[in-house]
Formats: sequence, C-alpha cells, structure tokens
Amino acid sequence: MSAKLSVLQQLPADLDRERLPKHVAVIMDGNGRWAKRQGLPRIMGHRRGVSALKDLLRCCNDWGIQALTTYAFSTENWGRPLEEVDFLMSLFEGKLRQELQDMVDEGVKIKFIGNLAALPQSLQAEIERSVAATQDNQGIRFTVATNYGGRQEIVQAARAIALQVQEGKLQPEEIDEALFKSYLYTADVCDPDLLIRTSGEMRISNFMLWQIAYAEIYITDTFWPDFDRAEFHRALYAYQQRSRRFGKV
Ligand code: IPE
Ligand code: IPE
Ligand code: MG
Repeated sequence: MSAKLSVLQQLPADLDRERLPKHVAVIMDGNGRWAKRQGLPRIMGHRRGVSALKDLLRCCNDWGIQALTTYAFSTENWGRPLEEVDFLMSLFEGKLRQELQDMVDEGVKIKFIGNLAALPQSLQAEIERSVAATQDNQGIRFTVATNYGGRQEIVQAARAIALQVQEGKLQPEEIDEALFKSYLYTADVCDPDLLIRTSGEMRISNFMLWQIAYAEIYITDTFWPDFDRAEFHRALYAYQQRSRRFGKV
C-alpha cells in the first residue's frame, strides 16, 4: 500500500475523533451539472455519483463514522424524464448487485428508506437481498433514501399511529416525540448530526424533515461526483468548529 493511501485512510490529524458526528446525512446533488460541465449526458453524472458514494462510504468506515444516510431518489424525482428515471433505477440495481460482496466484507449494514413498494420489482428484490446479506454486520450503518420524501414519511407515520388509536391499542395522550420517532423509517438510528448538501443549493428538498431538527448544515459548491475525502475532511472540520447549543446558552 502506498504511503499516500495509508495517510488518507486514517482520520486527518486536525479532526478530533471524540467529536466526530455519529450520523452524517448527505443530499448528493449536482450530478447533472457535473456532466453538463464535461459535455457529457446527465446519466454519466449519475454513474460518477455512484463512485463518489462508494468512496464516501469507505471513508466513513475508515474514519469511524457510525452512520451514513444518503439521498438517492426523492418522491419528487419521478417527475424527471422517463429515460433518466429508468436509468437511475437500473443503475441502483446494477450497482447494488455489483457492490454487495464488498459491503458484506467491509462490515457495512445497509438499509433502504422510502416508499420502496413503488420501486421496480427487480430493484426491490436486490434491495431485500442486500439488506438480508448485511443484517448481522457490525460496521457502519448505511442508509439509502430511495423514493424517499420527508413529508411522505411523516404522513405514513401519522397514518400508522391513527390505525393503532382506531384499534384501541394506543391512547392519543401516549403520542409524544419518542413514540412518533418510533414510527419513522429511521426509528433505529440517532438523528443526523451533520447534513451535507453538494452543488451549492440552499435547500432541504424534502429530506429527513423530522430528523434534521438540530443537524448542523454544511453546503459546498462542489458537484456530487467531485466530492472526495478532501471535501469530506473540510465538512468535518467545519462541523467541529461549530458550537451546538440545542437552544441553550
Ligand atoms: C442528484 O443530482 C442526483 C439525483 C437527484 C438522483 P441531480 O441529477 O439533481 O443533478 P443536478 O442538480 O441536475 O445537477
Ligand atoms: C434532491 O436533489 C434529491 C436527491 C439528491 C436525490 P434534487 O436535484 O432533486 O433537488 P431540487 O430539485 O434541486 O430541489
Ligand atoms: Mg439536483
């Protein structure tokens, strides 16, 4: 292994291991603009975006981040041209198949959140296979938001809670924040400490509306396919400069 690679594999010396975010969430944006800038079709940006995601997952695992959640496809992204949507669905399926063994070997525990039932059957099958194959892994918790919308997630939780009340299994007074959280897709992970968005857009685009209540937000102009370890280092460094007050003084 080259000296350069081994240095990159370690947590950079200016980061405090004790104060790393436990959970990092990423809105991976700018694939299309990255491709356009290179004179390539948008889909090439998506291909490169998947490589960037693989690198970030490895990096998080190397540096000791416990959970990574990434936004791969929103409930609004169905509104894109059919051929782009079809390309993305088959890209997800193919990459999942291709990368599964590496994730198994590297201890990654993968999970998908969103309205998965509306995804193509063959993608759903690949998702189930990857979740089952990694369920006992003890490494990083890697969550992929696919056909995910924060509002949709909250509405499905409200509906499930209403059903419990209707069936007499739950009293309205028992509905508090902890109970509500337990009905969200992310019931089993802590809320993100750090939310990163690439490509300079200053918006949330319906991502983890409940969970990011107190996340630190970091926005970089870099397009997602160019987001590398150096960029992630900058984001973590910025995060460690913040003072998280949670409403206190
Ligand atoms: C993010 O990149 C990937 C998905 C939303 C699937 P975009 O495809 O949104 O790229 P831009 O924002 O058009 O550049
Ligand atoms: C957010 O990016 C969704 C994903 C990254 C999957 P978009 O490109 O869809 O968001 P908008 O349209 O710029 O808000
Ligand atoms: Mg975009």
